[in-house]
Amino acid sequence: MASRYHEVYQSWKQDPEGFWAEAAKDIDWIKPWDKVYDHVDGLDRWFVGAQCNTCWNCIDRHVEAGRGGQVAIIHDSPVTGTKRSLTYAELQDEVATFAAVLKKRGAGKGDRVIIYMPMVPEAAVAMLACARIGAIHSVVFGGFAPKELATRIDDAQPKLIVSASCGIEPGRVIAYKPLLDEAIEIAGSKPAGTIILAREQAAADLKDGYDFDWAAEMDAARAAGDKADCVAVAATDPLYILYTSGTTGQPKGVVRDNGGHMVALKWSMDAMYGVKPGEVYWAASDVGWVVGHSYIVYAPLLHGCTTILFEGKPVGTPDPGTFWRVISEHKAVCLFTAPTAFRAIKKEDPKAEYLKQYDLSHFRTLFLAGERADPDTIMWAENILKVPVIDHWWQTETGWTIAGNPVGLGALPVKLGSPAVPMPGYEIHVLDEGGKEVPRGKLGAICVKLPLPPSCLPTLWNADERFRKSYLSHFPGYYETADAGYMDEDGYLYIMARTDDIINVAGHRLSTGGMEEVLASHPDVAECAVVGIADNLKGQIPIGFVVLKSGVNKKPEEVEAECVKLVRNKIGAVAALRHVMAVARLPKTRSGKILRGTVRSIADGADWKMPATIDDPKILDELTAAMKARGIGAL
Ligand code: COA
Ligand code: AMP
Repeated sequence: MASRYHEVYQSWKQDPEGFWAEAAKDIDWIKPWDKVYDHVDGLDRWFVGAQCNTCWNCIDRHVEAGRGGQVAIIHDSPVTGTKRSLTYAELQDEVATFAAVLKKRGAGKGDRVIIYMPMVPEAAVAMLACARIGAIHSVVFGGFAPKELATRIDDAQPKLIVSASCGIEPGRVIAYKPLLDEAIEIAGSKPAGTIILAREQAAADLKDGYDFDWAAEMDAARAAGDKADCVAVAATDPLYILYTSGTTGQPKGVVRDNGGHMVALKWSMDAMYGVKPGEVYWAASDVGWVVGHSYIVYAPLLHGCTTILFEGKPVGTPDPGTFWRVISEHKAVCLFTAPTAFRAIKKEDPKAEYLKQYDLSHFRTLFLAGERADPDTIMWAENILKVPVIDHWWQTETGWTIAGNPVGLGALPVKLGSPAVPMPGYEIHVLDEGGKEVPRGKLGAICVKLPLPPSCLPTLWNADERFRKSYLSHFPGYYETADAGYMDEDGYLYIMARTDDIINVAGHRLSTGGMEEVLASHPDVAECAVVGIADNLKGQIPIGFVVLKSGVNKKPEEVEAECVKLVRNKIGAVAALRHVMAVARLPKTRSGKILRGTVRSIADGADWKMPATIDDPKILDELTAAMKARGIGAL
């Protein structure tokens, strides 16, 4: 089928407000908007004056329309050996009841609720229950350590925290309650209480009058007939805050509104993913990341699909055939995951022998995002699955695709290494340092002309100035994506690298600056640098260099091991910092700037030039020798 992409993109360009007003017809509004778009208090806002409820649009409207008996959420959990599903009617009952529990325990409209949970349906129930009563949720990924959780508690100042007794990683049970207790202990802002889901794999100590048991609270609410209705919120009110890595250890609280978010996500299900209501949609991510928010929970439910919440890994739970089993068993029509998951499967089962056991005849498309999709992985996936493999590029900040190949509008030709073309709403410009557009094919900073489309962050939580400084100040009139790349003659984008110190490890976005802050806090470390180097499986991995203080009489290996442990304890296992090297000196410019980019190029075996401003070129030789001795990178 010929693609309607160009026609649709042009229709947006000619009349952006008309375009989004048309898309907004697919959402139920309590009160219509006064203005589709407005610049309010210095911020771009969509559907100004409208009132709505995201939970209503995800659940209640479908039940009213006769979808109550359809499965809404499938929980497939190879790590516990269990499967469970909830219909839309059951989900409505759970969510309305849990919303009443939240209210009883003190959370109301505008209050923040932190959700620190593993991949269980109750995580989605808690998110939707917050949306129902207008509370603002902030989901924190389970792989983060107490200190990271505490930073988010201090920033969001939640009334309540919803958590579980444990998460399960292959081969180990991670008790969450001690981590939660420690985080609350460290945090300056104390929530009024917690609600804890007891899982059979670990018990949790509950403090009387402070920690409430999920099941007991639900039973009590049911016995009392307590259910909470959907409240009207402004389209511009925050639905959630999602913290993401910034350039320092202080994460950025990305704010998502209600109205614009629903409109863009609902539009994307048809146009970008080509999925119909009633079909089974699977995003193999985690509810702690933006992909999980948008495409495990909100978009599939807004669209009336069945969504799969998968608690497992692409390999080892129990084998590299797990993804094929899930697709086949639940009849998923598409899968959305990070390329790293496919690299993991390819590594263990290069000939895709496991695939032979499963019928994937209903499976239509594989979508990849979260990190650069390398051509090898795309070709391997295409070859074994015999379906289109669609790369698309987006960020926590946008909540949905910036550039992609919209299969619902008719797929455009795939160009390996490119996530294809800008979606309606995004006018992309590739700029040089001075803010001038670079010619097609030339590398530059990828920027989006303001205003950003619906669903994109209007601001950072309680930090309008930080928002402007981080994203809007460098290139006036544009949103700076902090990705560098180029656009070819056909308008296809190529995303090549970050322009800041963010790295992407197994599809997880991490700040090397944040890791450096932790290493610098080690009492024996004088200075340090962390760089992300290429890795065959995870895309990138961090490596750390530390210069020890003079007079330290421990063995360097001891300090190195302590540094690895420190990052694991302060940030979490997810940081995946396994290599820290004690070195005599760090390579710097004459003005004292550490040459992280040059070190990365050396480690990656990429072409590099001796920086003209380097203070002492010999230091690079020392570092190269240190990495070579340990077999790090492509050396
Ligand atoms: N809770 C606690 N710990 C967690 C965790 C969680 N939710 N998620 C990951 N971790 C831990 C892991 O157990 C691991 O610990 P270890 O160092 O003791 O082994 C560490 O954090 C690093 O995890 P990860 O980077 O995921 O590596 P892995 O070796 O366990 O798995 C992959 C590698 C590629 C299989 C895995 O990263 C994967 O499935 N990625 C898919 C990508 C994805 O979901 N991206 C999200 C955005 S789309
Ligand atoms: P996150 O906010 O965690 O979704 O990470 C966003 C960052 O991941 C982007 O700024 C990119 O650097 C990277 N990224 C996401 N998707 C892609 C993609 N399809 N191709 C290249 N990089 C990507």
